[in-house]
Amino acid sequence: MSSLPHQVLITFLLFFSSLFLHSSQQTLISPISKDDSTKLYTLLIYLKTPLQPSKLHLDLGSFLPYYDCARHYKSSSYKPLPGNSTLCKDLNTGISVSCDDRPVGPDCFRDDTCGFVPQNPVTRKTAVGAILTDKFALPTTKKPGLPGPVTELLLTCTFPDPNSRIYKGLAKGSNGLAALGRFNYSLPAQLSRAFSSPLIFAVCLPGSSTAPGLALFNTPGPYYFSPTINLSKSLIYTPLIPGPGPTVFEQYKSPDYYLGLTSIKVNSFVVPLNKTLLDIDENGKGGVKISTYTPYTLLQTSIFKALVNAFVKESAKLNLTVTAAVKPFSVCYAADKITSTRVGPGVPTVDLVLQSDKVIWRIYGSNSMVRVDDKWCLGFVDGGLNPRTSIVIGGHQLEDNLLQFDLVRERLGFSSSLLVYSTTCANFDSTKN
Ligand SMILES: *[C@@H]1O[C@H](CO)[C@@H](O)[C@H](O)[C@H]1NC(C)=O
Ligand SMILES: *[C@@H]1O[C@H](CO)[C@@H](O)[C@H](O)[C@H]1NC(C)=O
Ligand SMILES: *[C@@H]1O[C@H](CO)[C@@H](O)[C@H](O)[C@H]1NC(C)=O
Ligand SMILES: *[C@@H]1O[C@H](CO)[C@@H](O)[C@H](O)[C@H]1NC(C)=O
Ligand SMILES: *[C@@H]1O[C@H](CO)[C@@H](O)[C@H](O)[C@H]1NC(C)=O
Repeated sequence: MSSLPHQVLITFLLFFSSLFLHSSQQTLISPISKDDSTKLYTLLIYLKTPLQPSKLHLDLGSFLPYYDCARHYKSSSYKPLPGNSTLCKDLNTGISVSCDDRPVGPDCFRDDTCGFVPQNPVTRKTAVGAILTDKFALPTTKKPGLPGPVTELLLTCTFPDPNSRIYKGLAKGSNGLAALGRFNYSLPAQLSRAFSSPLIFAVCLPGSSTAPGLALFNTPGPYYFSPTINLSKSLIYTPLIPGPGPTVFEQYKSPDYYLGLTSIKVNSFVVPLNKTLLDIDENGKGGVKISTYTPYTLLQTSIFKALVNAFVKESAKLNLTVTAAVKPFSVCYAADKITSTRVGPGVPTVDLVLQSDKVIWRIYGSNSMVRVDDKWCLGFVDGGLNPRTSIVIGGHQLEDNLLQFDLVRERLGFSSSLLVYSTTCANFDSTKN
């Protein structure tokens, strides 16, 4: 007799926990927009109480999200992080901030708030901010509608700064920064902890400002794109290489995603490179990383020259002759001399060979060439003789490619151009996922 209410209770508990599990494992889909003026990208999020939509500059790197608190941070749910809290100790920032002459508010809390030094990934300028937590959500459908399950986000709230030092240079319209880097408290790491989901996220940068791409959290895939394409089947994997020590916090490793590039080919010809530059040396210099802080891939001067030579030579075989270049590019061709293909202008392919000869990230015309008026220009830029990182694979080369960052297996899954499959980042099928 007495077991009946128990069973009812258990059934109810199971029912509710299944509801909870279902909602906590919901795929979170955040639209990514391209800003035409900077050629950089923003991510849509919801923050505060009541939840408000906000655009954050998207950075595939960076430690902790940051947000501009100078402009009337109105929320009924923010909580400054006390400097003596366990969380602050785990973060180990070594900084605490006080209110000085400012009133107590989101950017200050008593005389001891956990502090952080956020850095603008584009200009490398830094500032000081106070850490707080507030209510946070991401959309669950491609069309920004209702926010999904609400959690808390830890972020750096930046102080008023008349020079706006750490906001200048970011994608236009951003109120802060979505740090997607390799760090315990980056946005993906916080989401994975909040929803007990594996630390795996995917990014698909849009090729145009008119049709948004997306970032996917809380799901390891499969990723379906219309018309009926399962892109998980097409992902090729390469290990993520641990980065060097960082510049801001000595106790943290680099939040950037480094890859083990072994060579570059144009068509099938190996570009002669100084291989030493492809490895990270004992001072943290060299190596190859992915980053959204630069719109176009930056190559150390000798690598850049070698690539350009190979590209011009292979293009000549297609009867393409270079014309006057348009800055920041060095090689341009008259657009009417170039055929157009499903994967963009018909030019030689550029292959990034990762780890082994079988792991090839093929870059087709849509990702290698940039349209400037009546020309198509090779969208790679000279990164200087002595850059900190020898190759920084930038935004244009990543557009309409699906990238899966799998921090569980420390690997990057890449699709190469989605145009090969006659789809784009804008065609993610949110009904199937
Ligand atoms: C942190 O400091 C405040 C104010 O001094 C104190 O009330 C609180 O108990 C301290 N918390 C911890 C975890 O030490
Ligand atoms: C953060 O990372 C460090 C080093 O990997 C680890 O020891 C620590 O437990 C992590 N903290 C959390 C909250 O995951
Ligand atoms: C999609 O591809 C993944 C990876 O190959 C596979 O596990 C999954 O079953 C596929 N889904 C369908 C519906 O075929
Ligand atoms: C290759 O690059 C390394 C690192 O910059 C440099 O020390 C070395 O002299 C270069 N080798 C050649 C042959 O240029
Ligand atoms: C290039 O031009 C030459 C001479 O006009 C011609 O014979 C050849 O077929 C052309 N090659 C291509 C790839 O168009």
